[in-house]
Amino acid sequence: MKWFVTKIVEGQMLREKRVGKAFASSNIALCKYWGKRDASLNLPINSSLSVSLGSLGTQTKISVSEKAVDEVWLNGVLQKVDSDFAKRVSNFLDPFRPHVGNVFFTVHTENNIPTAAGLASSASGFAALVLALHDWAGWTLTRRDLSMLARLGSGSASRSIFNGFVQWNAGTREDGMDSFAEPLPVEWNDFRVGVLEISDQEKRVGSRDGMARTVKTSALYKVWPNQAQEDLTTIRTAIETRDFNQLGKTAERNALTMHATMMASSPPLLYFLPETIKQIHHVHQLRKEGLELYLTIDAGPNLKLLFQKKDQQMVKEQFPTLQIIAPFSSVLITSNH
Ligand code: PMV
Repeated sequence: MKWFVTKIVEGQMLREKRVGKAFASSNIALCKYWGKRDASLNLPINSSLSVSLGSLGTQTKISVSEKAVDEVWLNGVLQKVDSDFAKRVSNFLDPFRPHVGNVFFTVHTENNIPTAAGLASSASGFAALVLALHDWAGWTLTRRDLSMLARLGSGSASRSIFNGFVQWNAGTREDGMDSFAEPLPVEWNDFRVGVLEISDQEKRVGSRDGMARTVKTSALYKVWPNQAQEDLTTIRTAIETRDFNQLGKTAERNALTMHATMMASSPPLLYFLPETIKQIHHVHQLRKEGLELYLTIDAGPNLKLLFQKKDQQMVKEQFPTLQIIAPFSSVLITSNH
């Protein structure tokens, strides 16, 4: 990883600020990333496509610590040095330390989304960390390079460097230099995403282990790369032509196909809770009744609903606790939390 970071930041002048700050939005994949072709560089087997979540995400501040150890804060709480969260942040920072062994950081991370409950907080978390580090160091890297650095922390973080619809190209190179995210030049003002929180408990199997297990043991995974590629093309076209139903249908099928591959793993990976299933049926019933409403779901129990502005009132009545986001106006429309 060190050589990858060096390759990207080489030639950049270090003009350290006292504090570097940044915000990154979380994102929800409409065509999911599941499976790595290289675990250390976080290179995916398939390309993916997401929509960002406006004001839902992570705010990060970074500065040099006085201590001989990194100080990692999460939502105002100092994390133990040997906690998973602090270790993940420190390991990520290792290749960026200007003088090996004698620079430590203080990192303050504020998430306004539940951490690790399948609401992609690692995506906004690592994107905000890279952007804050970039601000602190005074570098002038391109967003494309920043997306490759964020990718090293968490694959989906590469997409959180941008807003709106974002595609992360899997790339084919072994050195990972062609595996970066890029925004789609499309604004869809009436597009809505609703976050239906079912549980804020930490997921039992994280995405890294879950992916490795699926790739290794699930017979259904064999169909995934081609299916994902096909879905990505369909979703791109649906975005370009504003074909909401095609987009919703394909995104929902893509998510459920990913979950089918997970469930066929050994031991099985089942992220759904009883309430998840109940709400999936609720969405399907409403669709039967004519509502243009679709769902997607990541490696956790929570659902994200996809709909358009014209149906917002109706959706809100059906799901009173829904957090509704308008990704293209960066406004969180309702928050019940
Ligand atoms: O970036 P990771 O390692 O947290 O994996 C994300 C995996 C999914 O959320 C299930 C899909 C995606 O593309 O975001």
